[in-house]
Amino acid sequence: MEIVICKTKEEASKLAAQMITDAVKKNPKLVLGLATGSTPVLMYNEMAKAVKAKKVSYKQVKSWNLDEYVGLPGTHDQSYRYFMNKNLFEKIDIKISNTHVLDGMAKDPEAECKKYEEQIKKAGGIDIQVLGIGSDGHIAFNEPGTSLASRTSVVYLTPSTIKDNARLFFKGKEKEVPTRALSMGVGTICEAKKIILLAFGENKQNAVQQMVEGGVSQFCTASALQLHNDAWIFCDEASAKKLKLKKYYAWRSATKMGK
Ligand code: GLP
Repeated sequence: MEIVICKTKEEASKLAAQMITDAVKKNPKLVLGLATGSTPVLMYNEMAKAVKAKKVSYKQVKSWNLDEYVGLPGTHDQSYRYFMNKNLFEKIDIKISNTHVLDGMAKDPEAECKKYEEQIKKAGGIDIQVLGIGSDGHIAFNEPGTSLASRTSVVYLTPSTIKDNARLFFKGKEKEVPTRALSMGVGTICEAKKIILLAFGENKQNAVQQMVEGGVSQFCTASALQLHNDAWIFCDEASAKKLKLKKYYAWRSATKMGK
């Protein structure tokens, strides 16, 4: 794991976006795994700026998103399809037909998940997977207690995730939040060739500490990234606060990145 600790989330988002821009320049047919949540929005804005400045093009890039709520159509303003269209796809030159988000309205959800896995495999696998992290240490919607070998499937949200995500729903009401989702599995995520995880703000302190310095455990599914040999964790100072070796990580990553 490479832990990059920046003063601000803006700085961290710029570095992460640059990593993606460079990778797309190198391989215009890159396969991206994408994430939702408030955390990657700044990075998506930076990626869009690079497209506007004609530094890079996503015309041949394909993407697969991590997850989607069961029961929300892509037109619902809290669906992850809607989020991706608004926060990234409409701002860059990617072909919408090359973007994939699990269908939360699928009649046969398990078949939808199976199809998704097959599509990713056919595309040659994910080159770079973007991740956020839940305050309980989940990645995608892989809640505590999920097997670290799990594949894309129907998953059940914990009360704490429902509470965290309620702020984005109608009047912030928890009962508006779906209790189930379709989510890439931890095993699926860990097959990506490179991983970029973003974690910002004080409420991610415990999750970041557990992910990086706790044992590998299904209680914090992000800890599975300890077994990945090209995982980059971009933190701001607030989210990195509880890391015991934060000074060492900061020095090591800065040296490696030539900063
Ligand atoms: C949801 C998503 C995760 C995301 C998390 C954190 O649970 N399924 O992919 O990482 O929210 O969201 P935020 O970035 O808004 O804190």
